[in-house]
Amino acid sequence: MPDFDLVIRNGRVATAADLFTADIGVKDGVVAALGRALGKGQREIDAAGRLVLPGGIDSHCHVEQLSGSGVMTADDFYTGTRSAAAGGTTTIIPFAAQHRGMSLRKVVADYHECAGPKAVVDYAFHLIVSDPTDAVVGQELPALIADGYTSFKIYTTYDMLKLNDRQVLDVLSVARREGALTMVHAENHDIIAWLSDKLMDAGLTQPKFHAVAHVRTAEREATHRVISLAELVDVPVLIVHVSSAEAIEQIRIAQNRGLRVYGETCPQYLFLTEDDLDKAGFEGAKCMCSPPPRDKANQEKVWDGLTQGVFQVFSSDHAPYRFNDPEGKMKHGSNAPFKKVANGVPGLAARLPLLFTGVAAGRIDVNQFVALAATNAAKLYGLYPQKGTIAVGSDADIAIWDPEKEVTIRQGMLHDAMDYTPYEGITVKGWPVVTLSRGEVVAEGGKVTEARGRGRFLPCARSPLARPLGRRVTSFDPVSGRLAGL
Ligand code: URP
Ligand code: ZN
Ligand code: ZN
Repeated sequence: MPDFDLVIRNGRVATAADLFTADIGVKDGVVAALGRALGKGQREIDAAGRLVLPGGIDSHCHVEQLSGSGVMTADDFYTGTRSAAAGGTTTIIPFAAQHRGMSLRKVVADYHECAGPKAVVDYAFHLIVSDPTDAVVGQELPALIADGYTSFKIYTTYDMLKLNDRQVLDVLSVARREGALTMVHAENHDIIAWLSDKLMDAGLTQPKFHAVAHVRTAEREATHRVISLAELVDVPVLIVHVSSAEAIEQIRIAQNRGLRVYGETCPQYLFLTEDDLDKAGFEGAKCMCSPPPRDKANQEKVWDGLTQGVFQVFSSDHAPYRFNDPEGKMKHGSNAPFKKVANGVPGLAARLPLLFTGVAAGRIDVNQFVALAATNAAKLYGLYPQKGTIAVGSDADIAIWDPEKEVTIRQGMLHDAMDYTPYEGITVKGWPVVTLSRGEVVAEGGKVTEARGRGRFLPCARSPLARPLGRRVTSFDPVSGRLAGL
């Protein structure tokens, strides 16, 4: 009778803190033992020469989601989670996205209906709040937070999604009262709209002008403003998909002042530049996302932000709109003005191999890699220690990496529903060769499982990292309605 369902032997196990050689014994989907010369497993994997890492958590991806402009993502919960598994990711946290006029409860129920029968790895949901009515702020959000939806994204731009500052304050106040974490897409809407209109009037409509309209100043201003609003309410905030030196500076200043301001960045800000939007014909649309990729100097600043810990989270912001498709980037034609092209790039499978180039290049160590890939997201979003680490009692979500394997990224190996990857032809060193979700192999040697519906929903706890600091910038506490000293 074997002692374990699975034993992974002789790998170099890394967590966000440690690196050691050990066997891992898995029973009933969880890590049951860590040690040397463990007893027999029903299945055994020899991981000598390999890195054994927690499965990745992609905490910012758009799956089976209708964009603000009415374009559906190409990936559903089957292809999206299959692609995640191929890239060493074992948990995704996509969005249950409210469009104006919708009940958040109903939105959440609809996303569950989509995900339940299809997901092959585990998933939680953030909420997108685009319509913070009294009912949403007063009843739906508190009830949903209590039910395990403890984070939400809000926008300062996009016509159909943006909140004004007063609405941002309303949402931040609920977050503080209920212990939730607010993620913010921070770009100044009016700057972008004004520049876009001027560009359109001048006939400058090609994809490359998207990057001109979404100027770094717009990102800096909104990042600064959102941090100020969060400070007023005294609540932590996470700025998502940060692309530029200026926004990084704002986050760093806030962190240096002791505020709980967190930052997320994504592979497109390390590997793409605005020149990629300036390809022949309509090709540049493949790399259009918001904020847009910047230049080489900004890429370096983003790497520095990862090295120096300004960023806690590295997500794909997978927003998959097919290129050569009338329901994708070409919804408004193959010559559409940039304002009409769906924003977003895919990246669920490529995210971690791209980040691992930072380990190979000595920019981050393997512990930082694990923290950025999985552990910090688990902590921020209330999934730790069930997810995001390798420890006795944690789910056996594990990616076995060959740190020497060189791979040239090709669309065909990513297992999503896309017809392109913006990372086509990039050669990386280090690749996940086996991915295990709760002890079951979901990807191995370039093949992925077909086990639709095995993924489970993960209710999220309230994260200690989302707690207020207890610092006030006014003598009046706008959340409790109390004046200091009374
Ligand atoms: O361009 C992007 N990032 N599209 C996805 C939606 C978002 O704002 O994250
Ligand atoms: Zn966004
Ligand atoms: Zn996004």
